[in-house]
Amino acid sequence: MRILSGIQPTGSMHIGNYLGAAKQWLKLQEDHECFFMVVDLHALTVAQNPASFSKETKEKIVELLAIGLRPETCTLFLQSSVKEHAELAWIFNTITPVSELERMTQFKDKSKKHKQNINAGLLTYPALMAADILLYKTEGVPVGKDQEQHIELTRTIARKFNTTYGQTFAEPKSLIQPEGAKIMSLIDPTKKMSKSDGEANYLSLFEEPESIQKKIMRATTDKGKDIKYNPDKKPGISNLMTIFSLFANMPMKKVEQKFHGKGYAQFKKSLADLLVKELEPLRRKKQELLQRDLYIQEILRQGQRKASSVAQDTMKEVRKKVGLLSLE
Ligand code: TRP
Repeated sequence: MRILSGIQPTGSMHIGNYLGAAKQWLKLQEDHECFFMVVDLHALTVAQNPASFSKETKEKIVELLAIGLRPETCTLFLQSSVKEHAELAWIFNTITPVSELERMTQFKDKSKKHKQNINAGLLTYPALMAADILLYKTEGVPVGKDQEQHIELTRTIARKFNTTYGQTFAEPKSLIQPEGAKIMSLIDPTKKMSKSDGEANYLSLFEEPESIQKKIMRATTDKGKDIKYNPDKKPGISNLMTIFSLFANMPMKKVEQKFHGKGYAQFKKSLADLLVKELEPLRRKKQELLQRDLYIQEILRQGQRKASSVAQDTMKEVRKKVGLLSLE
C-alpha cells in the first residue's frame, strides 16, 4: 500500500506525541511504500518567525531521523521542495466549495485562536492537504482523529475532480492512529501534557538526563503511598505509571506487581532511570545529526527527487485533463 503523511515543522515532540503518531510511522515504513514530509507550507498559515522557521524545519527532519525513520526505506522530504504541491492545491481551490472549508473544525478552532490572522490559507488549508495526498495517488493516510475530517474532504475533492475532468484519483482512506495512552502534565495531572503550560510539566523526547531526573522526581503525586493505577483518585501516580508501562512495554498489572510495597520515591527513581535509558540514544542521535548538515541536505535532496518524480507525473496528467495549454 502507498502511504503518505505529514508533520508540522514547529512544536517539539514530547513523549505523548511520540507514543502516538511517530511510532506508527516507524512501523509502517517496514512494510509499505511510505512518503513522509514536513509540512512547512501548511505551517505558514499561522505567523512564523522567518529567522527561526528554517532552523525548526531542519530540526524536525533531524528528529524524525533520530527516532528511526530510515531514508533508505521511506521517502522523507520537505513539502515546499516539491512545487507541485502548491500547483495542485491551486487547481483544487477552484473545485472546492467555500462552504465545505468553512465547516472544518480545525478552521473554526484556529480562527478563534488566531483572531487577528484569519488568512485565506487557513481556510484553504485542506485543499493543500488534499494536494499533498492525491499527488502521490496515496492509498492510506496515517493521521490522528482530528485530521479525519480533512481526509474525508480529500475524498470529496477527488470525486469532484473525477466527475469534472475524468477519472484520475482513487479515494484514499485514513488510517486512524490508535490514540494510545493520554499523557498528562507532570505538574497538573488532570491536564494533557503540553509545552505551552511550561517546561516543568513537560518531557521532551530529547530531554537531557539530568532534566529527566529532576522533572520526574518533582512530578506531582497523590495522597497515600501505594503504587496503584487509579486515574480518578490518583491521577499523578497513575500518569507516571502509564509512562512507565509504555516505555517498559509492560502491562499495568505487572507494573503494579513490580512496585508492590515500594514508595513513590523509589518508583520515581526507577521511572527516571528507565526514561534516561530509552531516551538517551535518541538525544545523542539528534545531537550527532545536527552536526551533519551535508548528510541532512543529501537526504532531503534524495527525498525531493523521489517525491518530485511521482508528483510531476501526476501533474502532467492533471494539466492535460484540466485542459491547460501545453507548451511541449
Ligand atoms: N494537517 C496535518 C496535521 O496538522 C498535517 C498534514 C499536512 C498532513 N498534509 C498532510 C497529514 C497530508 C497527512 C497527510 O496534523
